[in-house]
Amino acid sequence: MKMSKDYSQYFDFREAKIIREEDGKTTLRLNGRHIQIQSAPSYKDEKKRGKESVRIHYDNAIPDDMREFGRDKSYFIMTYGCQMNEHDTEVIRGLLEEMGYVQAEERRDADVILLNTCAIRENAEDKVFGELGHLKKLKLEKPGLILGVCGCMSQEAAVVNRLMTRNPHVDLVFGTHNIHRLPHLLREVSFSREMVIEVWSKEGDIIENLPKKREGMRAWVNIMYGCDKFCTYCIVPYTRGKERSRLPEDVLAEVRELARQGYKEITLLGQNVNAYGKDFKDRAYRFADLMDDIRKIDIPRVRFTTSHPRDFDDHLIEVLAKGGNLVEAIHLPFQSGSTEVLKRMSRKYTREQFLELVGKIRSAIPGAVLSSDIIVGFPGETEEQFLETLSLVREAEIAMAYTFIYSPREGTPAFEMEDNVPMAVKQDRLNRLNELIAEMSCESNRQFEGRTVEILVEGQSKSNPNVLSGRTTSNKLVHFEGPKEWIGHLMQVRITKPTTWYLNAEAAEPPRLATALSHGA
Ligand code: SAH
Ligand code: SF4
Ligand code: F3S
Repeated sequence: MKMSKDYSQYFDFREAKIIREEDGKTTLRLNGRHIQIQSAPSYKDEKKRGKESVRIHYDNAIPDDMREFGRDKSYFIMTYGCQMNEHDTEVIRGLLEEMGYVQAEERRDADVILLNTCAIRENAEDKVFGELGHLKKLKLEKPGLILGVCGCMSQEAAVVNRLMTRNPHVDLVFGTHNIHRLPHLLREVSFSREMVIEVWSKEGDIIENLPKKREGMRAWVNIMYGCDKFCTYCIVPYTRGKERSRLPEDVLAEVRELARQGYKEITLLGQNVNAYGKDFKDRAYRFADLMDDIRKIDIPRVRFTTSHPRDFDDHLIEVLAKGGNLVEAIHLPFQSGSTEVLKRMSRKYTREQFLELVGKIRSAIPGAVLSSDIIVGFPGETEEQFLETLSLVREAEIAMAYTFIYSPREGTPAFEMEDNVPMAVKQDRLNRLNELIAEMSCESNRQFEGRTVEILVEGQSKSNPNVLSGRTTSNKLVHFEGPKEWIGHLMQVRITKPTTWYLNAEAAEPPRLATALSHGA
């Protein structure tokens, strides 16, 4: 039998037997397991950037007949990767809880286990396949368990292939564009007992009004999805699709509602928040305008991540300089200090342009604390070019950075470049960079000694329940003694002893407890 769709990249035809084809779905048997492919990912399609406008859907209620589906059942989700994924997990939890599922304390108690995965580097993927190996045993003990894989790895054809051919104990694979389809997919898996695969290669439309199960006093808010930057090393534009912005009125309504519920801090999320609004055809409204409007909402702290230096414009700097709830911590990944390497990364700015931007930020926002993401060992990176990265950290006074060894990702342009920096050299560069970052962090922290600053109390220390931790507006981690009733509050502390990675402090003034959260988290 010939298949109407070409899935030849996913498996060896000689081993798979097609069982049926109906309604655009293909069901086949492979290694004794029935696999139902509703749709599978394709890099070719993920690379495309169509001109068609994005539709926004507001009506996404869970069908009535599914609201009891998860009754007396529980779920467990393991989340890998960035804040975008963490926030997607909140949506998934929201959907599951609207279906009646409750969260399981431990994975072995759960009826549904989902792995929300990250594809950014090879080691992120290795962790997931390792975890799937462990879960195989649990699945054998509990055949009724539904084991699902979602997130960025699901958008990769090679991963879907490996799941189909070598992980028959997986029951469900869905991607980043069709999270809202989860209730339907769970029903399909439960009734068919087949492995169900539904991954959309073309980005979905924007789905509003999905339930979100948030925790704590800090909330993430998506302002845009996808990325069009195509940095040559990066897989995100393929796994997350094209840039599309949520309408300002929808973002502002969500932020106002969070303020009403008593949240103390929001973080606006996007792979490249500075590109917000570029896709609007009917209005000239950009990230700076959005920040200016959010500034007027009564929520104590507003953060955003991540900004690309290229789109960080003067208007945004002007708005951030107004301060108020817009904090002075700015995460600004620069990736490399060498203009030559930046060019090969297709970052579209030079070292000098980055420094100029930092200069503008510093003169407009005197207390600005900058953090960054940096890659070492990009193809062809010389010792000299690496030294330029070190010197840029100093010149730009980067206080904190996430540092990474370059990891080749199949399907990206850099994958075609010769990965010619030996691993030992990459490791050595990473160590030297990390030493410098520790020095920079220490130096930046030292400036806080003796100062009284406002912090948001986030939780208890894991090792000592009498010690609380919180963060300053500049995003410094602070430890101090206090009762757990202070968690979730803003308060003043005096910094007593800064260390490399955090600040020790003492309470200067207890919080006004009347300002507690009203949403009960
Ligand atoms: N959108 C964000 C970054 C998201 S990925 C931005 O552009 O700032 C987070 C970080 O992972 C990147 O900033 C980069 O430093 C790192 N990264 C991405 N792809 C990588 C790769 N192939 N190897 C190593 N690090 C990578
Ligand atoms: Fe990746 Fe570059 Fe987009 Fe960031 S801006 S997500 S590094 S392609
Ligand atoms: Fe990873 Fe996807 Fe985020 S690849 S870093 S989870 S966007």
